[in-house]
Amino acid sequence: MRDLSQAKVAVIGAGTMGVGIAQLAATYGHSTYLYDVDATRTQAALDGLRQQLAARVAKGKISQAEYDATLAHLVVVDHIEQLADRDLVIEAIVEKLEVKQALFSQLANVCAEDTILASNTSSISITAIAAKVPQPERVIGLHFFNPAPVMKLVEIICGLQTEATLASSLHGLMLAWKKVPVSAKSTPGFIVNRVARPFYAEGLRALQEQVTRPEVLDYVLRECGGFAMGPCQLTDLIGQDVNFSVTQSVYRAFYDEPRYRPSLVQQELVDAGFLGRKTGQGFYNYQAAEVSPQYVPIALQSITPQQIQVHGAWLAQPEFLARLQQSSLKLEFSAAQQDAIVVDDIQIMLTDGSSLQLQVDGQKRVFMDWHHAWDKAKAIALSAYACDETDLAKVNALFLSINVTPVWLHDHAGLLCLRTIACLVNEACETVLHGVATEQDIDSAMKYGVNYPMGPFAWAEKISYNTILKTLENVYRIYAEEKYRPSLYLRKKAALETAQQQKLMDYRQAG
Ligand SMILES: NC(=O)c1ccc[n+]([C@@H]2O[C@H](COP(=O)([O-])OP(=O)(O)OC[C@H]3O[C@@H](n4cnc5c(N)ncnc54)[C@H](O)[C@@H]3O)[C@@H](O)[C@H]2O)c1
Repeated sequence: MRDLSQAKVAVIGAGTMGVGIAQLAATYGHSTYLYDVDATRTQAALDGLRQQLAARVAKGKISQAEYDATLAHLVVVDHIEQLADRDLVIEAIVEKLEVKQALFSQLANVCAEDTILASNTSSISITAIAAKVPQPERVIGLHFFNPAPVMKLVEIICGLQTEATLASSLHGLMLAWKKVPVSAKSTPGFIVNRVARPFYAEGLRALQEQVTRPEVLDYVLRECGGFAMGPCQLTDLIGQDVNFSVTQSVYRAFYDEPRYRPSLVQQELVDAGFLGRKTGQGFYNYQAAEVSPQYVPIALQSITPQQIQVHGAWLAQPEFLARLQQSSLKLEFSAAQQDAIVVDDIQIMLTDGSSLQLQVDGQKRVFMDWHHAWDKAKAIALSAYACDETDLAKVNALFLSINVTPVWLHDHAGLLCLRTIACLVNEACETVLHGVATEQDIDSAMKYGVNYPMGPFAWAEKISYNTILKTLENVYRIYAEEKYRPSLYLRKKAALETAQQQKLMDYRQAG
């Protein structure tokens, strides 16, 4: 393992990412060179950085001494030959394989044989970049997220020929830079850009299937799923074109794997030039005074039911149970077999990935979406079958009595949160199955790279692997689409969970 604490660093490319990475290296005391083919870019970058740091000094976020030290460590260079003495070169240039390969070949001639050559690529194979370098074992991916000085996550990506100890050395360096480093094998999308795909795909799919409107979708994913932003808001922020192109690139790189198939809803936005915030129009219109689209729950009709019975598994949900016990309505609790809340003749059940409208028994039924935090839930997403307005008003009465507002959706297998999370868990399981990353690194990557409230494996532990598996099996059965096929790794995790639960029950019975 190499000690990189005093490493002399170079960053190539003075664009969005390069400047941030150079700032980071300089902040942590490394002699840092910044180089760009276009000298005007480096100078503009340095001027911009000076202004930005000065503003931070003015706000008291950093001291004058920190300002001086960072800028003293950062030097703009005009010729690639000036990088000869660098220990670590981080490339952040245009996202084109041939251009990166040409640059890396040039660097191999200029730098010492043991100079580490890292790429900040978001999507290009590290193995392919390294292939043209005489010592491919020193080429590695160091994938920062935008803005690099702020975002905690760094994916460290090993290509086929990358020397394993190099990843450990960079892991140490990233920890010293106060980052959260995770390791991944060079595969399309690495961790974050792969595992996050269902978040966008399932949101877009729900819109395509007319389940609800963008503002309702976003509201449910935020309020019930615990996500910082819904998929429409987030893709408007990222740029519909950027998000679409990442999806296309992952889809093609996996040889048209159906799980990553791009959405026609997003294609339409891109074709129209509705690229999101940057063009003033995406899913939402940002030219209007109200730039932050907010769903305002509508006033709902409410009719007090005669009888409410809470059965089965609902009793094992302590946070939800505690809320129900606060209800002003009279509730009966019973450990009956059926996992349902029965409001007069209406059954309320947690969605299991099946479709209400495919049921033929005529039973009045309401499916409820998963909620991430029942102790503070403000709303819940629901869908109804065989219910008239009076029935819906009775269900409204139950939830409104505990200050939870129903958000009614059209029938959708797995509804919005559980289905999205099940697909995220499934993708994370495939990623582990193929040896791309560990469960722990995937959870960290999703928390620190895209600000998910928790990682897919933490979700699966909370919801239960068996619930996730059953949800996916039902969605897979209904659509008969390969896209929803449960991962073998998910099946194994569910089986292990069942075995552990059985062991616990045996132990309790024996005790
Ligand atoms: N922008 C993001 O959010 C983001 C996030 C993570 C990773 N990345 C990756 O980082 C890399 C850079 O992205 P960006 O958004 O900063 O790009 P950018 O377009 O803002 O900047 C790229 C810079 O590289 C320079 N350049 C191009 N070819 C060069 C060469 N041969 N030698 C030296 N300089 C050259 C350009 O003049 C430009 O200043 C890409 O690989 C991208 O996929 C981007």
